[in-house]
This record gives sequence, structure tokens and C-alpha cells, in this order.
Amino acid sequence: MMTNDTLNTGVDEGRDQELFDRISEHYCRKDLVPASRRARQLRLQQTVKRVLTGNQQAILELGCGAGFSASYLEGRFRKYLGVDYSEKLIELARTHVREQNVEFAAENIKDLRMPGAFDGAFMIGVLHHLSDADETVRRVAECIRPGGWFALNEPSSNNPLINLARQIRKRSDRDYSEEQVSLSRRQMSDVLNRNGFENVVTYGQGILSTPFAEVVMPQWFSVPGSFCSCGVDRGMEHLAPRLLNFVSWNTVAVGYRSA
Ligand SMILES: C[S@@+](CC[C@H](N)C(=O)[O-])C[C@H]1O[C@@H](n2cnc3c(N)ncnc32)[C@H](O)[C@@H]1O
Repeated sequence: MMTNDTLNTGVDEGRDQELFDRISEHYCRKDLVPASRRARQLRLQQTVKRVLTGNQQAILELGCGAGFSASYLEGRFRKYLGVDYSEKLIELARTHVREQNVEFAAENIKDLRMPGAFDGAFMIGVLHHLSDADETVRRVAECIRPGGWFALNEPSSNNPLINLARQIRKRSDRDYSEEQVSLSRRQMSDVLNRNGFENVVTYGQGILSTPFAEVVMPQWFSVPGSFCSCGVDRGMEHLAPRLLNFVSWNTVAVGYRSA
């Protein structure tokens, strides 16, 4: 739900945290099988493509899950901190991703106090899980230096067919978060503009590849399927970016920290 000055998702934080602890092993599989890995890496790359330049930035991931973004972006940052309130997911992150310049913290984003410590931050599929999105985005803003960036990737509400697919999954998959909601591009840019960011841009991300990123399917089908889908999505990104705004599964919003 949206009012003029808050984004209220209606999420029960305790229940959501308990869900991610319970499904952590299952959730982590998406980053262990090749087909899903490929699609998840593409999603991440398309989310940070405008802002993660060079290899000297200190970056912060909020709601990092099992931490595989640090592997997908290897060599592209000076320092990475991944934060998630699921202790089980953070344990898995520490097991799977061991690099000197990578750290993980089991913490609520709202408790972060690291003023100006990062050049940029990102969040994949997390905003709609936050019980108080505005307060959380303000906390993130404090952690980013002036002029630094914040990139969000969220399920989009633009395509009715995709909304229907999500409703069906919600009813049939007991490990799919009940808190799952889709946000409009306007809601995403407003929450950034209200809480310390400016020059916000939004764009669509993912058409064919997103189901492979979200669901582990039989590999004989999904390895070639994911390979082809990622190729098509990469092509669409260059050939028809405007069409993506209407048909994509996800929306990316990128804002810059006001001085
Ligand atoms: C849908 S999952 C996305 C995980 C990961 N970004 C990915 O793309 O696979 C949402 C994640 O956000 C975390 N989360 C939600 N609210 C949080 C909060 N307030 N503080 C820290 N982590 C949070 C959950 O524990 C969960 O791992």
C-alpha cells in the first residue's frame, strides 16, 4: 500500500525472517545449479550495469541471502559487505563464499550504522519484504557517500500475465513468501526520492530468464533453456529496452545519494 509519504508493504518481519531461516538450504540451491546461476548472474549484472564501474568500489548488499552476488561480481569491487537477517542464510554465505575482501553480517538492515562507508549499495528482491521500507531506505542512504548509488531490483507490477503467474505460484508453492507483492515503477522511484536519493531512473529487467532464476527445474531442460533465455534477454536489453518496461518480470530503480 502507498500513501503520499510512506510505502507500507504490510509485511510481518518476524514471520518473514522465520520463513527464510526455514527454507535457507532450499533457497540456496538456486545459486548452486548451473541453469539458475546463469539467470541470477544476468539479473545482478543488469541491475548494477550503470553504476558498478571499475573494480575499486566498496559495495553493500542488503538482503544478500546466501551471498552468491559476491561470487558473481568477483573482481569488480574493492570490498563487499553482505547483510541479511536470516542467520541460516548468512551461515551458508560464509560457507560458500570465502574471499578476503568479502564479509557477511547477520543483521537487520535497520540496525546498520556505517555512515558514508560505501560507494554503492544494491538490493535484489528485498524492498517488498521490508516492514518499514522508508525507514530502511533512509538507513541505507546514511551508509552511502554523497554521490554514491543505490540499485534496487523488484518484481514488477506492469505485466498482468506475470502477475497471474505469481498468484498461481503463491497458492501452489508453500516455500514462496506470502509477503510477495509487486511494486510499480512509481512506488520504487518515490521511495528513493523521499529518503535521500535523486536523479532516479527505472527500467525493465528480465523476460525469459527470470523463471530460471527463481525456480530450480530439471537440469536437462533448464540448462539449455536458461542459456537461450539469457541470450534473448541480453539481446532485448540492447534492441528493445522500451518494450522491456512493459513486459518484464522485474523493475530496476537506480538513485544517487543527495549531497
Ligand atoms: C527474496 S529474498 C532475496 C535474497 C537475495 N537477494 C536473492 O536475490 O536471492 C529476501 C531476502 O531479504 C532478507 N531480508 C528481508 N528483510 C530484511 C531486513 N529487514 N534486514 C535484513 N535482511 C532482510 C531475507 O532474509 C531474504 O534473504
